[in-house]
Amino acid sequence: MIETIQKHRQDFDSRICSTSVAEPLKQLRIDFLGKKGCVQALMKELRQASPEEKRQQGKLINDFKQYVENQLKDKEEELGKSPKGRPSTGATFDTTLPGRREIPGTLHPVTQVMEEIKSIFLGLGFQVEEGPEIETDYYNFEALNIPKDHPARDMQDTFYVDGEAVLRTHTSPVQIHVMEDREPPLRIIAPGKVYRCDSDVSHTPMFHQIEGLMVDENVSFSHLKGIMSIFLQEVFGKNTKVRFRPSFFPFTCPSAEVDIQCVICSGKGCRVCSQTGWVEILGAGMVDPAVFKFVDYDAEKWTGFAFGLGIERISMLKYGINDIRLFFENDLRFLKQF
Ligand code: DAH
Repeated sequence: MIETIQKHRQDFDSRICSTSVAEPLKQLRIDFLGKKGCVQALMKELRQASPEEKRQQGKLINDFKQYVENQLKDKEEELGKSPKGRPSTGATFDTTLPGRREIPGTLHPVTQVMEEIKSIFLGLGFQVEEGPEIETDYYNFEALNIPKDHPARDMQDTFYVDGEAVLRTHTSPVQIHVMEDREPPLRIIAPGKVYRCDSDVSHTPMFHQIEGLMVDENVSFSHLKGIMSIFLQEVFGKNTKVRFRPSFFPFTCPSAEVDIQCVICSGKGCRVCSQTGWVEILGAGMVDPAVFKFVDYDAEKWTGFAFGLGIERISMLKYGINDIRLFFENDLRFLKQF
């Protein structure tokens, strides 16, 4: 019996020495102190012994059991684990494990482009304004010189909320709110969400626009050209060519559509620019005197220009993205690239 105990002890000592993690320690406890462990086996053997042997050998077994318990306890403390395997408050940890890396988020590409555009216009003396996303027919259409039966209403497929209320189809109504509230001189931009009943590779029912408005004495079309050129060259690069094409919007006169030379093919002609070498980037024009009338501005004294652009469209051209819906699918493989 003495020899058996000595053998067990040697075995125990060598195993506990080589243990450096909590899990194998548990196994050690089971192997030595568990129901089917070696201490219990020794006890079983003892049953056949004489009373005198029981007394002597029982003591040896108890001493061994005590020894194992103490050793296990010390080792558990050393490993920083309580007997139940919960982390103790002692700051012992396995320095060989790889660290847990933080995965920081990034700003959405639409937000990034929005912030970039805002900061360009802030630098040009413009202020940022906001307006409601649910508008009345008056602000979304009427006061922008788009009367009820005007064909221009067909240009924008409107979501009607109820009666006179609509989800704004563009950020232009913010112009009206600002001019109602303030007198010129004005230099504002209004970024925000707009809604149209439309969905394909280049349209989503919700997208983002930035509206711009400058009103002062002697503001002319050349100011508009200058500001738009500076802005577009900041976004797309100093050498970006910009051109103005005559167009029509009910709230500006004269109106223009502004193009930049295609950033994908540098003007050579490709699928993105429909082989024209140019891509349309925004709408703009001189504020129509009819709009000034709605807000009680003296059209003899004040002149102004306005412009409106889609953020997703700019982001798509800037980053070479061919499907607008990618912006809203929340696929991390896409978003992580920005
Ligand atoms: N509101 C127009 C649209 O959503 C864009 C626009 C064009 C705004 C010309 C303007 C402008 O302020 O002058 O299509």
